[in-house]
Parts: sequence; structure tokens; C-alpha cells
Amino acid sequence: MTQWSTTDPSPKHPGVMVRQEQPFNAETPLSLLRGGYVTPRELFYVRNHGSLPAVDPATYRLTVSGLVERPLELTLERVRSEFPRVEMVATLYCAGNRRRELAEVRAMPEKIPWDAGAAGNAHWAGAPLREVLRSAGVREEARHVAFTGLDKEEESGMGSNYGGSIPVEKGTSEDVLLAYEMNGEPLAPEHGFPLRVVVGGYIGARNVKWLSGISLQQTPSDNHYQTREYKLFPPHLTAETADFSRGEMLGEIPLNSVVCGPAEGAVLAAGSVPVRGYAIAGGTRRVERVEVSSDAGKTWKEASLEEHGNHPTAWCFWEASLDLAPGAYQIVARATDSAGDTQPETVEEVWNFLGYANTAWHRVNVRVEG
Ligand code: MTE
Repeated sequence: MTQWSTTDPSPKHPGVMVRQEQPFNAETPLSLLRGGYVTPRELFYVRNHGSLPAVDPATYRLTVSGLVERPLELTLERVRSEFPRVEMVATLYCAGNRRRELAEVRAMPEKIPWDAGAAGNAHWAGAPLREVLRSAGVREEARHVAFTGLDKEEESGMGSNYGGSIPVEKGTSEDVLLAYEMNGEPLAPEHGFPLRVVVGGYIGARNVKWLSGISLQQTPSDNHYQTREYKLFPPHLTAETADFSRGEMLGEIPLNSVVCGPAEGAVLAAGSVPVRGYAIAGGTRRVERVEVSSDAGKTWKEASLEEHGNHPTAWCFWEASLDLAPGAYQIVARATDSAGDTQPETVEEVWNFLGYANTAWHRVNVRVEG
């Protein structure tokens, strides 16, 4: 098994686009992201709000506290041996994915301008959170499961640990793992070694890495990343006018579809043009349909969804072919979910000053030559 230092990211593929060196943030180019249904570790995007913490697996402890009958303090060995090892294919999806398009409408100078590659799908293994919670005995009045990581975040100016929470119903569902393996290997340092939360169907931010504490409580986490970030405000509000005690705490992944190929600016031969991408629906919803258009949405063609087994917490891959004569085109994709919701047309409608949940139709400009 590979041995990594715990404070440096593991080596990434040379094509991965580093968005920030410190803290380390990187995303996957779309052509490589669409290369395999499960994203290899070397290609997997990284979203960090602080430096990677130094972790000694021998002294590592996970505490479970708050509104529980029996507070727990677990070694890594106990997490592995006292709870069943469960596998889950789940997609991590950063709520800031596709922010670049939002920032083109109105600038967001302090925010990473993620393209559409801040998402990845992995095969996780770990202990079901609900089994750990069962062992601690969740008290009836608990409403939220809050997680704390070992890393100190560097953005709020308060130097506190990273954290976030999910509702207790989600925490006791079968969709949540305390993962110690990603794609058959121990977690890499930048993905949360030795233990992270994987909350299938929820935005990346709630998938707390380097997990050190779980607390059962009546209210959501009071962590900066629950109360000030990863909140959705309507388009007319700004950082100055928004009331941060309001705003929607993002949870379920918003419905989305992305064209991974052809690439923006591609020059293509006339005829049948393959169009490929990924689509994702959050919570318990499924992607029902993906459609593509080459005439700004006047007509649509249904894409075929690839079969990869039943993975309700993972994205789906889709493919369509468009018959294109020479000319300039904007290829557009949109998805519809199992509740009948579909993506909105424009980024202006979904613009929000923190730059989250860009669900607008995804667009790629190409030129077709005879
Ligand atoms: N957990 C900790 N402890 N610190 C962080 O900065 N970032 C979150 C989440 N968990 C973060 C964290 C965010 S915003 C995302 S999108 C995912 O981790 C990214 O997971 P990855 O880096 O393994 O792809």
C-alpha cells in the first residue's frame, strides 16, 4: 500500500488544474473527468479551506458526544473492527462547481472560479454512520449531526476547525459512511486520511475530512462553513445586504448536467458529433432524462444514460449525437430529475453572491467545418 506524508497532497495527474497552491485546491479537466465512471484518485478534485493537518493514525481518536446516551472515543482500529465495512459508490460535488460562469455575470473576486470539474465519483468503504450512532444511542431530542475536522480553516479569520452538519434523519440513513478507503486504498492525505464523512447525495462541504468529532445536537453546526458559507441567497442580495441568519443552508446536491466533450472552443468535422457529459441529482432523486440542443433550446435531443449498476448516490454518464453542418454552434445540456424538476435556462436567474449551486443549462461553443 502507498505510504504518503499526511501533510502534503498525494501526487496528482499532470492534467489536473491547480486553482490554489495554499490551501491546495484543484479541479479535474472535463475531458479526463469523463474518462471513467469512477474517478481515479490522481484525477479527483480537491477542495480545502486550510492546510492538511498532521495526523498520527496511532494516536488518532474519533469522539461521539452531545445528545447521546453513551459518549464514545474510538481509535481507528475500533472504527474498522467494531462496525461493519460497507461499500458505496458516491459522487462528491462541490457547491461552488461552475462558479466561473456566475462570476462572468458579476465578479466574485475572493472566490475560486471553479469550472465544472469540482466533482468526482469514488468507490468508498467505511463504517456506516448509523451503526456508530446506534452504538452511542442517539437521544430523542437530537435533530442534527455535526462533524468537526482536524484542520484549521484559514478563511474566516477565526482560525477554527472546519465543520458542518446534516439533519439527523440523513445521518441515520444508509447513505452516510465514515470512510477510511477511497477506490480500494486508504484515504489520501488531501481526501481526509484517516477518516472522512461521505454523505451520499449531499454537497461536498458536508463530507467533512480528517474527522475528529461527531456531535448530536438540537441545532445545526455553528461552524463558519455552515452559518456563513454554503448558504444560498436570492440574486438581488449582496454580502452587504444579506442577513446571514437567513439564507438556505445547502444540503442536497442541486440537479445539474455538464457537457464534458466536445470542449469549449473545439473545431469539429461536419456530420455526426458525439456529445458526452455527466449529470447528477441530489437527495433521493434520480436523473430521469438529459437532453442536448444545438439551437439554443428550440429543439432538444434526448441523450442515452449509461448503465453502471444501481448507485443512487452517484452521478450518471450520458451521451448523445448531434448532426451538425458547418457553422458556429452553442451546444446546451439540461437534465430533468425524478420529481420532474428541470434546470433553469440562464445563469442570471441563479446568480448569488457566494457563487453556489449554478444549475443553469450548461453551454459549450464549438465551430463545425466542412
Ligand atoms: N473537510 C475539511 N475538514 N476541511 C475542508 O476544507 N472541504 C469540504 C469537504 N470537506 C473540507 C472538508 C468541501 S467544500 C468539499 S467540496 C469536499 O470536502 C471536497 O472533498 P475532496 O477534497 O476530497 O474532493
